[in-house]
Amino acid sequence: MKQLMLLFSFSLLFTNCNSSYTKKKKIGLIVQKAMVVSAKVEASKIGSDILKRGGNAYDAMIATHFALAVAYPVAGNIGGGGFMIYRNNDGTKGALDFREKAPISAHKNMYLDSAGTIIKNKSTLGANAVGIPGSVAGAFKVYERFGSIPFKALIQPAIDLARNGFKITKKQAISLNNTAKKFQKVNTYKTLFEAKWKEGALLKQEELAQTLERIRDFGRAGFYEGKTAELFVKYVAQLGGVISREDLQKYTAIWRKPITFEYKDYQITSMTLPSSGGICLAQILKSIAPYNVSDIEHNSTKYIQLLTEASRRSYADRAHFLGDIDFVNVPIDSLTATDYINQRMQSFSWDKATPSSEVSHGKILGHESDETTHYSIIDQFGNAVSVTTTLNTGYGSKVVVKGAGFILNNEMDDFSSKPGVPNVYGLVGSKANAIAPEKRMLSSMTPTIVEKNGKLKMVLGTPGGSTIITSILQNILNVVEYNMGMQESVDQPRFHHQWLPDIIRMEPEGFNSKTKTTLKTLGYTIYEKKTLVIGKVDAILVLPNGSLEGGADARGDDAAVGF
Ligand code: DON
Repeated sequence: MKQLMLLFSFSLLFTNCNSSYTKKKKIGLIVQKAMVVSAKVEASKIGSDILKRGGNAYDAMIATHFALAVAYPVAGNIGGGGFMIYRNNDGTKGALDFREKAPISAHKNMYLDSAGTIIKNKSTLGANAVGIPGSVAGAFKVYERFGSIPFKALIQPAIDLARNGFKITKKQAISLNNTAKKFQKVNTYKTLFEAKWKEGALLKQEELAQTLERIRDFGRAGFYEGKTAELFVKYVAQLGGVISREDLQKYTAIWRKPITFEYKDYQITSMTLPSSGGICLAQILKSIAPYNVSDIEHNSTKYIQLLTEASRRSYADRAHFLGDIDFVNVPIDSLTATDYINQRMQSFSWDKATPSSEVSHGKILGHESDETTHYSIIDQFGNAVSVTTTLNTGYGSKVVVKGAGFILNNEMDDFSSKPGVPNVYGLVGSKANAIAPEKRMLSSMTPTIVEKNGKLKMVLGTPGGSTIITSILQNILNVVEYNMGMQESVDQPRFHHQWLPDIIRMEPEGFNSKTKTTLKTLGYTIYEKKTLVIGKVDAILVLPNGSLEGGADARGDDAAVGF
């Protein structure tokens, strides 16, 4: 029963879009100098225009981020958070954590009733689901260190877009119409998003424009203090939530040391905790590194087996060991050590599936012991930025701050509300990811940069909750093992396994029936659904001649723009 309910919730999460990966080999936009690939053409264009004006990748990041908050309300945000990986043209790399935090008043059992049972929807819908947003703090952190043109010029295009409106796409109309009832249920007034939307209708967001103006005029205080904070705290309280002025004032984004590792001839840089992305990606890639992957047919039974078994073991570790590094002691080096990984893979057999019930977390010596969007940018100076940002599920908590026009996240559901009980992505967790005041919830977001021989090769990332890590994994392998172009790689059908539930999710019609039959006889359970979509990867590949190829995912409205 539990398994069935999980499958149901997965399908709800991923049915907003059509399954539209293409089988024909396509080449993405190719440009000579600079490119932005994001979920909406308006945002990619705004970012690319900033680059054309002489701005750098960081300026473009800020402009793109605010533009997505307007043009892509399902996930673009100022009421959410995310992560950034960067690589400067001199090869220096870094990571920014602007993940949401639990409110000061949060506590371990806040989503349980007196009998210790999870209260349905409390961590996903409405004001109690909201974490303290990090996006605006993140944008200013980036600007302070790397910004090169006036901040006002970076945010103004988003203000204009909010005030003058943009035409919504067919996918957006469907998604908004599907969410209308939830907006209605959660809010005390009729939000802007509740209407009978049709493709091409103009969405104008005046209150959001005014909030963005306060950010333009007062900096981070325009969001975390003053009128915006007042409207935020008042409305959350009205809806029964627990966020204070102090929560907002205290929020800070943090520079962190990214996870870096080698996969064959490639150097990979990805996000560290509180995202599990980099650690799991390192574990999985290191698990398969001893194999001649390019000799195994792409998306064949053997390929799916190898990636599934590596993923199964990594997600089991994720559930046990991983949580906010500022709160729990996580043995990152031990978990990504080659000897440890090889030992974890010793039980792998080509002859039959290892049931998840027989796989637990590994043994680490000396350890004491729990709708997103991505954009990739390369500028004309050779700097690269990889950002994944989210409200968590589509339109987050569905709370639209009255008078301020922005949507609040439901990131609190990424904590483990109760050990062993799955969250909306079917992920289980333990003490390491338990709720605590001001703690950051564990994420799967995996903004990544790949280098070859010390030179920039690829910038990539995706939404997709728990499937983010395996989508990034498959796109790296598509390019480095199977020599695919960027668009060709993004277009490939994807599959996913995360230890629990013990199923391989597959995009429909992407895998041949013989492969699936063989997998079943080896003991794998396959889950396919007509509308299942795994990730929306937006990526840029540096081609051998130095030009850039964009990979914009056709599963969404994603677009590459550059020059
Ligand atoms: O941080 C995480 O892992 C999730 N909140 C990401 C959510 C997501 O990717 C939703 N997109 N489909």
